[in-house]
Amino acid sequence: MIVVSNKKASQFSGDMLVYFVRQSEKKRAPVCSDKLVQERIDHAFELGDCLGKKEECLLIYPERVFDGVRAKRLLIVGLGKDELNRELFRRAGGAIARKALALKAEKLFLVVPEELSFPVAEMTECLSEGLILGSYRFRKYKKEEEEEKSVEIKRIGLYVSDASMVHARKGVKRGIAAGNAGGVVRDMANEPGNVWTPQAFADFAGKIAGEGGLVCRIMEKEEMQQLKMGGLLGVSQGSALPPKLVVLEYRTGKNVPTLLLVGKGLTFDSGGISLKAGEGMGDMKYDMCGGAAVMAAMQVIAEEKPGRVDVVALVPATENLPSSSALKPGDIITQYGGKTVEVLNTDAEGRLILADALAYGVEQYKPAAVVDVATLTGAVIVGLGHHRTGLLANNDELAENVLAAGERAGEPLWRLPLAEEYKEQLKSQVADLKNIGGKAGGTITAATFLQEFVGTAPWAHLDIAGTAWNYTEKSYIPNSKGPSGIAARTLIELVRNWR
Ligand code: BES
Ligand code: ZN
Ligand code: ZN
Repeated sequence: MIVVSNKKASQFSGDMLVYFVRQSEKKRAPVCSDKLVQERIDHAFELGDCLGKKEECLLIYPERVFDGVRAKRLLIVGLGKDELNRELFRRAGGAIARKALALKAEKLFLVVPEELSFPVAEMTECLSEGLILGSYRFRKYKKEEEEEKSVEIKRIGLYVSDASMVHARKGVKRGIAAGNAGGVVRDMANEPGNVWTPQAFADFAGKIAGEGGLVCRIMEKEEMQQLKMGGLLGVSQGSALPPKLVVLEYRTGKNVPTLLLVGKGLTFDSGGISLKAGEGMGDMKYDMCGGAAVMAAMQVIAEEKPGRVDVVALVPATENLPSSSALKPGDIITQYGGKTVEVLNTDAEGRLILADALAYGVEQYKPAAVVDVATLTGAVIVGLGHHRTGLLANNDELAENVLAAGERAGEPLWRLPLAEEYKEQLKSQVADLKNIGGKAGGTITAATFLQEFVGTAPWAHLDIAGTAWNYTEKSYIPNSKGPSGIAARTLIELVRNWR
């Protein structure tokens, strides 16, 4: 629980009192807003232990009689000397959360550094986000660690002056919503493939629709057959579990444009008949992270109720498994809308399920913009590594907006090109398209395939294969090997800043 408070720090008697300091220019100790704490900082600085560098943490155990401080611990967190930005506060929040968990500190009190020239609303927003994301753990299946499980941060007070209360409350509210959304994505992704099934996506959608007043519809296999969604049906035909197309609608009730969000909900990708190598295959339970990001964003949208845009989310959900009924290399399928595709590699399945959802969504909802999120290609890891999400778009304005949203969310993207030349690689001898474009430019040819199904709608595609897990190590990504929860916050930010 994070609350804004105007109680003085000296009255706090909990587990950890936190002050923030900037790294001073020249050979001076960092400056703290509290005089008595300053003495401690000066001392530590003389010993070379406290410079105020980014994410640097100095832990002090005040003597019981230490004037003015009744807290059990004091933590001085550095903010460095570079220009302040949102990510800095997010990382500071993450660093505090980790320290608190390591020390089993349950009650924290943070003195928000209002004296710095940075908006209090954004400071408190990003601190809250970092605190929540940084204290995330997934211990559900660790049955033998009962004791560890019970350790959690119970209460965090953020001190601000009376004049900043309103801004801080607003910031904290946003930060909590975005931070929790990241946690929701991580929770879904951490669930194993035998638990997080297409049905689980459907159940989750029903739940958030009920809570937030969204319209939810689960399209079943029979309707997909009537609509001739050959991509989603084809990929799912090797699995014993039926596919689901999850539809969630947020409506303002006003005459506003519609944003269509589409997320790849591949609950386990074995590659199908074009079977993947065994090593690391377990990670392919994360192939639903795009769908999870879209769902988590919808949950926040339902709560925040933006006024300028309607939002529709589609998550095609299925497994990709080999069996005697599975798609085979060489099979030809017909996507929603009638285009035929020669499936030369059953492991390039994401584009097949997305193509149906995109074509259906564009036709059905006439969106002003479309954004899809998918763990689509290994090639994006070759191109961008694990630090940036690949962005491909047929519209510069939308691309700029998505880039800006990612920047604000601390989820950087990098745009790759789309152009006529790449279409050549998708030409099939026997069908309208083939589903693979060869080694060269794999992320681009995958997006070029998707582009065939969005018509003229402004569209942006986020390839999160490199960032959904094994993401950049950060204080607020507690397990960088595990799911990062990426993209939900970018989508939320995109909607918050809509036009
Ligand atoms: N889900 C994978 C993409 C992926 C790979 C995500 C590695 C995260 C890490 C996707 O379905 C896939 O297998 N793509 C193939 C496409 C290829 C056959 C054209 C790939 O990238 O190898
Ligand atoms: Zn695949
Ligand atoms: Zn996949």
